[in-house]
Amino acid sequence: MTDRQSSPRRIVVLISGNGSNLQALIDAQARNTFPGNIVAVISNRPGAFGLERAQKVGIDAITLDHKEYDSRESFDQALQAGIDAYRPDLVVLAGFMRILTPEFVRHYQGKMLNIHPSLLPKYQGLHTHKRALEAGDTKHGVTVHFVTEELDGGPNIVQAEVPVLHGDTPETLATRVQLQEHLIYPEAVRWYCEERLTMENNSALLDGQKLPSSGIVISNAES
Ligand code: GAR
Repeated sequence: MTDRQSSPRRIVVLISGNGSNLQALIDAQARNTFPGNIVAVISNRPGAFGLERAQKVGIDAITLDHKEYDSRESFDQALQAGIDAYRPDLVVLAGFMRILTPEFVRHYQGKMLNIHPSLLPKYQGLHTHKRALEAGDTKHGVTVHFVTEELDGGPNIVQAEVPVLHGDTPETLATRVQLQEHLIYPEAVRWYCEERLTMENNSALLDGQKLPSSGIVISNAES
């Protein structure tokens, strides 16, 4: 038995809200999609629905309310201690809506993933669906990337494109994008847990091959 088979990767998921991406990961784990276990879910917002999703399947669900800390640094230090208590191999940001300090990001360099609802490097930051509509884009999508000190700027791993359709609103577009989020995030986590995905010199590598700057692109002409 290889080490990979004998010790599933330990995953900590950070959330701020609904946790639909967390649910996709929980469901993928239940289907044995990846050799990993979600060992804890941490939310910076009390009452986040994702906490209930975790509790329902017996995963430790922890609230660390950022409002109880007087600085970004002190919150991130507490968060780091909370995460490290679970000895994670991988930290997954799943709708975790916080800007992270450089120290925190460096601590998890190469072992922290994020999902962002745009075709990065387009539309870093907030209101991505609205901005894509206002720009008249004909395609939009979602990106999974490694987290580096640059906000929404780390190397891309995988992107899923969706069409922008006539009459779309930010909400309809978000729904179409989220369907893809729930497919590509478990896939990226699988690659990581199978030790096929790494970050080196600010590039993402899959099976030792440097990925293009877009990451792997999954095109969905119609969805
Ligand atoms: C997702 O759409 C994710 O892409 C986005 O937050 C949403 C969380 O939904 N993340 C960001 O905007 C990060 N910059 P969820 O709580 O249902 O998974």
